[in-house]
Amino acid sequence: MRIAVVREALATDPLPLETRVAATPDSIKRLKALGFEISVESGAGEAANFPDSLYVEAGATIAADARANYADADVLLKVRPLRQREDLDAHEVDLVRTGATVLGFFYPGRNTDLLERARARNLTVIAMECVPRISRAQKMDALSSQANIAGYRAVLEAANRFGSFFTGQMTAAGKVPPAKVLVIGAGVAGLAALGTAKGLGAIIRSFDTRAAVREQIESMGGEFLEVTYKEDGDGGGGYAKEMSPAFLEAEYALFRAQAKEVDIVITTALIPGKPAPKLWFKDMVELMKPGSIVVDMAAEAGGNCEVTVANEVVVHNGVIVLGFTDLAGRLPTTASNLYGQNLVHLLTDMGGAKGWKVDFDDEVVRGATVTHDGQITWPPPARPAAVPAAAPAAKAVVAAAPVAAVAAPTPAKSSGHGHGKVAREHLGSARTAPLTWVSMAILVVAYLGLSTAGSDVQGLHHFAQQLTIFVLSCFVGVQVIWSVTPALHTPLMSVTNAISGIIVVGGMLHMHGDISKPAPLLALLAVLFATINIGGGFLVTRRMLRMFHK
Ligand code: NAI
Repeated sequence: MRIAVVREALATDPLPLETRVAATPDSIKRLKALGFEISVESGAGEAANFPDSLYVEAGATIAADARANYADADVLLKVRPLRQREDLDAHEVDLVRTGATVLGFFYPGRNTDLLERARARNLTVIAMECVPRISRAQKMDALSSQANIAGYRAVLEAANRFGSFFTGQMTAAGKVPPAKVLVIGAGVAGLAALGTAKGLGAIIRSFDTRAAVREQIESMGGEFLEVTYKEDGDGGGGYAKEMSPAFLEAEYALFRAQAKEVDIVITTALIPGKPAPKLWFKDMVELMKPGSIVVDMAAEAGGNCEVTVANEVVVHNGVIVLGFTDLAGRLPTTASNLYGQNLVHLLTDMGGAKGWKVDFDDEVVRGATVTHDGQITWPPPARPAAVPAAAPAAKAVVAAAPVAAVAAPTPAKSSGHGHGKVAREHLGSARTAPLTWVSMAILVVAYLGLSTAGSDVQGLHHFAQQLTIFVLSCFVGVQVIWSVTPALHTPLMSVTNAISGIIVVGGMLHMHGDISKPAPLLALLAVLFATINIGGGFLVTRRMLRMFHK
């Protein structure tokens, strides 16, 4: 099977130029190992610092004839949606051969004409932004890999224009206060921005309608801002939903208060399938100190800030508002490398050249395929509630903020949380649940123990001692486990495996005598459950270790 990689932009294209390329010398090697033949259009990787010679070294051929490169391909790898190629006087959708597969960003919601043209040409289009955000698909999640880079770059763009340090300094000449950075929306891009700003020494704070991100913000040393109005902001799968007007009013009031304080605002708020919500209004910009910066990462989707003009730098009342839509492309080498790897993982999932299949039973392939077999297959059917992937955000931050020395944890995104207060209430009830179970277990053990000890005073005394130890260990255990952040549950599991080992030994020592009596019965149950815990622990650990194997 032949893969074609093409030039994303020409010097004559309108700005911003696309600097990324869909395959890099590194990813070419991996694609070759999957059995593909790869031809790269001459100059395709130039803007990302990959000259043709590096592609040749990696095993690709350089296609001198750009038209033939499209026409001969079984699979076309793209970054941007298919577009008009002025230099070839043709649209990419017509250049590629009928029935071929195209992988790249596509945005079917806003490119309905293109979607129809792709269907009419019988193309299989796999839209990278539609890869579902589930745990298994993290390595194919191009939105996350690019948003991570964009979040990092957003802070650097702000720092580049900010008139002061990010970190506070005491100098002989006087004191310089640290910069205060507010990040609105703590998704992948927001967390990367927070990590980078923290790494530069700023005071960081963030607001998000999904309270599930509170822990991630706090673990990075940031403050999670809250409003008093209660509403569930989780739209499922780690994405947000549109908030009610009353909630938004409370949010605006919070932002008006923050506007007077903060030096830099980075807005990333996004609701899938909707224009970006307007959150930072003109009057908020006017409340900011002159020289403050707003980086509107949602500029491409309409912008979160009222003053933003996409791809422009606007100065309003002394405040600089950046509306760049090419932030990831401003780190073209890394952005291309990570994007290229996302594509390799997806092509591996599709069976490589030898086992190639557009498998609609594969949730990832189904979710991302927007046209196939002459049909428009977008939007995909709603899938049953799946485990949302929380890790990309956290992983992204680790990668984005090497200087931060604060790695975000990877808590599982729980569903159904609203903003901060609601989440705490949920957490509160979740915390009381194990205590209820522990209390019930203690009552059962006390009942069984008392019925065994009978009226024998020494027996009762002995039992009271045992029960005290049992009760204390239960409460200490529950408090310890529930105070540990979810990110540390895996190492904790290893410790509980050790405890389970002790339980097994203890249980075996007590497993003698009449099995119908409570003591041996309890010992048997203890051995059974502890063994299940040990077995499960090993299975989960093995699964996790497998995730690190190449
Ligand atoms: P995401 O979906 O992971 O994060 C968006 C966050 O905004 C979510 O956490 C959501 O809960 C939050 N949010 C939604 N409504 C909100 C509200 N009313 N108030 C506060 N928070 C709210 O998205 P991701 O991947 O982090 O991307 C963020 C933004 O960055 C998107 O707009 C994306 O298009 C943009 N982006 C921009 C690039 C550029 O070059 N400018 C490059 C890559 C991404």
